[in-house]
Amino acid sequence: MSAPAGTQDEPRTDRIQAATALRRKDLLGIAELTTEEIALVLDTAEAMKEVGERPIKKVPALRGKTVVNLFFEPSTRTRTSFEIAEKRLSADTLNIAVGTSSVVKGETLADTALNLEAMRPDMIVLRHSSSGACHLLSRICRSAIINAGDGMHEHPTQALLDAFTIREHKKRLAGLKVAIVGDLQHSRVLRSNIHLLTKMGSDVWVCGPPTLIPADIGRFGVRATSAVDDAVTGADVIMLLRIQLERMEGAYFPSLREYFNVFGMTEARLRRAKPDVIIMHPGPMNRGVEIASEVADGPYSVILEQVANGVAVRMAVLYLLAGGTEHEAAA
Ligand code: CP
Repeated sequence: MSAPAGTQDEPRTDRIQAATALRRKDLLGIAELTTEEIALVLDTAEAMKEVGERPIKKVPALRGKTVVNLFFEPSTRTRTSFEIAEKRLSADTLNIAVGTSSVVKGETLADTALNLEAMRPDMIVLRHSSSGACHLLSRICRSAIINAGDGMHEHPTQALLDAFTIREHKKRLAGLKVAIVGDLQHSRVLRSNIHLLTKMGSDVWVCGPPTLIPADIGRFGVRATSAVDDAVTGADVIMLLRIQLERMEGAYFPSLREYFNVFGMTEARLRRAKPDVIIMHPGPMNRGVEIASEVADGPYSVILEQVANGVAVRMAVLYLLAGGTEHEAAA
């Protein structure tokens, strides 16, 4: 395997000296990762992406390891890409359909996890509606716990795949103006992206209706505004966030039509950004609410690239948590 390319903002050799393995049991959030660990995952994902471009998209890195995918909330992208990543690494995978498990009879998350643990898996990938659910499993489980989205807290692999996609296009993260527009209050994607992008030196602007801007946003080192034109002017990256109606109690803005008129990303608004701006969305999208279809499907959109890169990034996370090192990646 050829060595992955370095980035302009961080010499690659420095990163290799700093971190060649993830010396942690779990991936619970971006908040606890160092910049060296983030760079290690992104570099390792480059090698994993190359595996996905081979005629035989499989390496034996996780042969003999068992990974349980335990999703208590709906998911299309995350669950599918974890499963593909696990298969490409030759792991044995098990998908728990929560709707047909004993959860529906009232079994707790902890009991469910401990019963799965009794069958000796090596890793559990967990999505749950409660913030902190992964931290609970981390304390009681021997298996590695990977957070696939916990409530309104974090979605670390989403932020890592977003960073990977930005780095592919811009060759760096430091110094970029990244505008994140949408439902800030309920977004775990926002929290993970803020942690990652500020650690890596990006200039992060967040924008949404005042009712959807978290009261404590100031302590995260970002600029918050409700003026969408200010947020997108000169932006290198615009990331739209879904309006999460299912997490809202009461009205945060007058109507979806009103939201689109004031905050929706249209071709006209896009003209204020840099000419080589990229448009991102973690999905699922509400077309005509946070993003116009012409923008979602237009020339600046990298939304489906984000999905494709999710496989490589999740392969990297699984591989590194299993004890792999960047030097051996994809061998
Ligand atoms: N981005 C994301 O988490 O999508 P899914 O809910 O489909 O997994």
